Amino acid sequence: MAQLSKLQSRTEQVGNLRYPVRIVVTAGPTREPIDPVRFLSNHSSGKMGYAIADAAIEAGHEVTLISGPSALTPPPRARLVPITTSDELYDAVHEETRDCDLLVMCAAVSDYKPVTAATQKLEKQPGPFALQLTPTRDILASLPTESRSYFVVGFAAETHDIKANAQRKLFTKNCDMIVANDVSRDDSGMESDENEVTIFVRDGSSRFISRAPKKIIAREVLKIIFEIREKSLTKKT
Ligand code: CTP
Repeated sequence: MAQLSKLQSRTEQVGNLRYPVRIVVTAGPTREPIDPVRFLSNHSSGKMGYAIADAAIEAGHEVTLISGPSALTPPPRARLVPITTSDELYDAVHEETRDCDLLVMCAAVSDYKPVTAATQKLEKQPGPFALQLTPTRDILASLPTESRSYFVVGFAAETHDIKANAQRKLFTKNCDMIVANDVSRDDSGMESDENEVTIFVRDGSSRFISRAPKKIIAREVLKIIFEIREKSLTKKT
């Protein structure tokens, strides 16, 4: 694979492997509107996804970054596709993966959204208030399985039973690999600058990357993604 390890300015095809790799990265949270001034969301900062996009560009690949609202500056050489809601993310992922080699699904998608978004600001009422929610669509689980020509990496945000939950998501969401992190800790996970992850692969193997700045974790994760992807593509040749 020496031909592929060098940075090349033009596209090359060696067997099933194309270079540069066209990578779609999703990052950040989604926001599900309640009314014109309120939404449901989560603590995702986008740092991990943006670090993966940065590392992929640094390695010479073509990156499309589908990003939920984030205070971060997107890598200048990434093609940015901004989204707000889980429905917009669903459409963007289906559109952008039509022509890609690798999807890294780092976005923290809201699991529920309000049944209806009020068109006018909801007025405060005396007493308790209940918001009716409906599940959002699972984007990873909605992707094609058999005919898929791209490699899919999921992220699992866990507070407990990390291994069991991540392995379940790896299979139920039809991922090729899943990167699990413990979001219950203050020193790693969602808003932190650092992370510590375990990667689970469909053959039952796993790799642990100990706590480090997200920039370093991103480079390591990308290295492992390429190694596993290359193995699976070589098998298909
Ligand atoms: N994900 C998705 N569509 C959703 C929810 C999550 O594609 N509606 C993706 C995330 O981008 C991530 C993976 O699924 O790559 C796992 O997300 P996570 O939040 O850990 O799991 P959930 O499926 O949301 O399950 P739970 O919240 O119950 O842990």
